[in-house]
Amino acid sequence: MKEFNSFVLNLTVSILDFLYKGKDIQRFWVLETIARAPYFAFLSVLHFKESLGLRTESHFYLMKEHFAQTVNETEHLTEMELRGGADRWVDRFLAYHLVLVYYWIMVVYYFIAPVPAYHLNEEVEWHAMETYGKYLLDNPDDEVIAQIMLDEINHALELHKAMELIV
Ligand SMILES: [Fe+2]
Ligand SMILES: [Fe+2]
Repeated sequence: MKEFNSFVLNLTVSILDFLYKGKDIQRFWVLETIARAPYFAFLSVLHFKESLGLRTESHFYLMKEHFAQTVNETEHLTEMELRGGADRWVDRFLAYHLVLVYYWIMVVYYFIAPVPAYHLNEEVEWHAMETYGKYLLDNPDDEVIAQIMLDEINHALELHKAMELIV
């Protein structure tokens, strides 16, 4: 399953790299739009399981973590919007359709296989860290992006911890 996750991620990254060559802020906005979806999906599934009486010991911790991550990702998204990342119709069209699909895939994935679902999104967060890292090589004075990159590292570590908690 981990190989499948890496394959899907690498394919998606290659497509986005091709489409967004030289358009960093638009690329970041699209990525941030998609990056929020798994946290909503995890919360939806955790709420749903709770409603069915399937609360586990880690439930409360995970719900608080994932809610905090959605808020943090929304802060990233608004920063990219302030920088003009969502100004083009074509970027909004692409991101909104991708997120619609990705959200529901994550709901099903996390419901039936939470460990690989966490693993995939940990990989996504490490990829986000790398993407911001590359941008910072050319723009070392951009402190906001540097902070966002640190946030992505924390998200990856938090997802890894969540994964270890439920195995
Ligand atoms: Fe982010
Ligand atoms: Fe993130």
